[in-house]
Amino acid sequence: MSLILGIESSCDETAAAVVEDGFRVLSSEVASQIAKHAVHGGVVPELAAREHLKALTPVVSGALKQAGVTLKDISAVAVTQGPGLIPALLVGLNYAKGISQINGLPLVGVNHFLAHIYGAFLDSPPDVFADESLYPILALVVSGGHTSLMLIDKEGKAQQLGCTIDDAAGEALDKGAKLLNLGYPGGPVIQKVAAGGDPEKFRFPRPLTGGAGKPVAPENRYNFSFSGIKTALLYHSQKYPEMSGQLLADTVASYQAAVVDVLVRKTADARRTYGARTVVVAGGVACNAELRRRIAESVGNSARLMLAPPKYCTDNAAMVAGAGFHGFRRGRFIDLGADSFARLPRITEVDFVG
Ligand code: KG4
Ligand code: ZN
Repeated sequence: MSLILGIESSCDETAAAVVEDGFRVLSSEVASQIAKHAVHGGVVPELAAREHLKALTPVVSGALKQAGVTLKDISAVAVTQGPGLIPALLVGLNYAKGISQINGLPLVGVNHFLAHIYGAFLDSPPDVFADESLYPILALVVSGGHTSLMLIDKEGKAQQLGCTIDDAAGEALDKGAKLLNLGYPGGPVIQKVAAGGDPEKFRFPRPLTGGAGKPVAPENRYNFSFSGIKTALLYHSQKYPEMSGQLLADTVASYQAAVVDVLVRKTADARRTYGARTVVVAGGVACNAELRRRIAESVGNSARLMLAPPKYCTDNAAMVAGAGFHGFRRGRFIDLGADSFARLPRITEVDFVG
């Protein structure tokens, strides 16, 4: 049996978790800094780094305690190496280096983006990836930093079919909420306000879907663009400067519908084209009830749908420990010279878990 201690600090959540053999989550502790950043309307990287420094020791101790283990029981430490905010990542990486050195534990660097996909597989049976009927897997990763469609084959190779060419889906929701003075983070508040509104009241654009008489260039078929929706919201808010009540709810519902519609349509197109037998939706925006409902409706019986549970959609360390287990099993360790990285490496093909 292998117990992996996962550590996550890529953005504004300090998280630690203990996962057994890649799938069984024994503990998952998350300390959110949202309140500290909300006053600034977004995440301030240096502030995040300082908060991680304060939170790491209690969060790691809490995760060990919750799992009923000590560092002596741990087989390896897995830490988010990137992508994310460098000042924030560095704190977690250096902390993990310290724990691994002092306790003589191997250290595994985890790609946060792939870990989000892994979040949909936590709590699955340990042989889940051996099931050939799972492949190809189409994964829609939607978070504050990413919007990508990935295709994973049975060898565990992940290929990026497309990604956003400007804002990420979560960023579009966060910036939209900021524009409407709804606070930070935007996704949850947009979902709440949208629940009382009519999503068909206003028509926001669906960029790169071939609407409005603009055919999509082949290279953008699986790419996303959300800046146009955001600009349309800006013009809309100038037209209705005093937005509140039903008008606000209808605006937010229509805005959310545009973002969700683009995500669902592109995912459906890729699923059909590549004959995906599993559709995964992961990342913070995958918490969104409307996205979950629409994607379930779209996938229907044509593929297996794996929606990451909300607690593993937003940033957490269980997904890091789980993904890290596979690196540990294959002896893929990093040393004290390892650095954090800000952006997703230019990947066309990477190992998911194998
Ligand atoms: O995965 P995550 O916690 O951090 C990143 O890696 O970026 O995702 C955060 C994003 C934010 O943009 C937030 O507004 C969005 O996820 N989000 C939601 C919901 N909950 C969080 N978006 C839509 N609906 C939600 N319920
Ligand atoms: Zn994330």
